[in-house]
Amino acid sequence: MNDTLSTLNWLVEAGADEAVADSPVNRLVAKASVAPIAAPAPRSPARAPTPLALDDDAIGGAQAAAGTATTLEELKVALEAFDGCALKRTATNTVFADGVASGGVMLIGEAPGRDEDRVGKPFVGRAGQLLDKMLAAIALDRKTNAYITNVINWRPPDNRDPTPEEAAACLPFLRRHIELAEPKVIILLGAVAARHVVGGTEGIMKLRGRWLEYRVGDRMVPLMPTLHPAYLLRQPAHKKLAWRDLQAVAAKMEALGLPEPGSRAN
Ligand code: URA
Repeated sequence: MNDTLSTLNWLVEAGADEAVADSPVNRLVAKASVAPIAAPAPRSPARAPTPLALDDDAIGGAQAAAGTATTLEELKVALEAFDGCALKRTATNTVFADGVASGGVMLIGEAPGRDEDRVGKPFVGRAGQLLDKMLAAIALDRKTNAYITNVINWRPPDNRDPTPEEAAACLPFLRRHIELAEPKVIILLGAVAARHVVGGTEGIMKLRGRWLEYRVGDRMVPLMPTLHPAYLLRQPAHKKLAWRDLQAVAAKMEALGLPEPGSRAN
């Protein structure tokens, strides 16, 4: 009951303060009532920026290690064995992922914080609690159909922004992670994730709410940048923007028939 109340609170704070029907509709089941997606046409495909003038050994090592993995489990093992990112020396745990990849929805955040470093899973602190409420509002749940990771797999000391070198050493793992998880929809959480996955110079306030595409082989995966839950904790008035982005994600999921039947815990 407490979970239901806190989800309702999140919805009200996010601006969803009016009921549109007498009884709730599970839009992920009622596929017959799919609404058209009111998102702008995709712009140029999102591409991970090519890191230049960085530590070629670390990047090459990361590419080689990530490239040999043929399953998510193998990728986790390869990441845990990788020593090319300086952040690993100060971190307690490698933070790989949490959730169910076969649900088709992959979320990418920034980097582990103190709680995530301690537990070894992404988004388990206050921002993670808000993220869980946001996901619940569109019938997503890391126990059944949402898959969560970060651009950076080790906690930056004092939660500072990761340096370009640190990000460059992690990005080959993220790219392989996306290939192996085979998401049908990607949600990018916040400015740092957008900077490293989308590239370019546009800030998150400009990028958010617009569908982009991420290329995986010959497949284009729809990608929605939105605001980071930690930012929303500091700026609750902007929850309504994140709510709009999540509604666009829910509509896209309906259109794609997600979550896929038979999604299972990893
Ligand atoms: N913020 C992030 O971006 N990722 C986490 O895992 C936790 C907080």
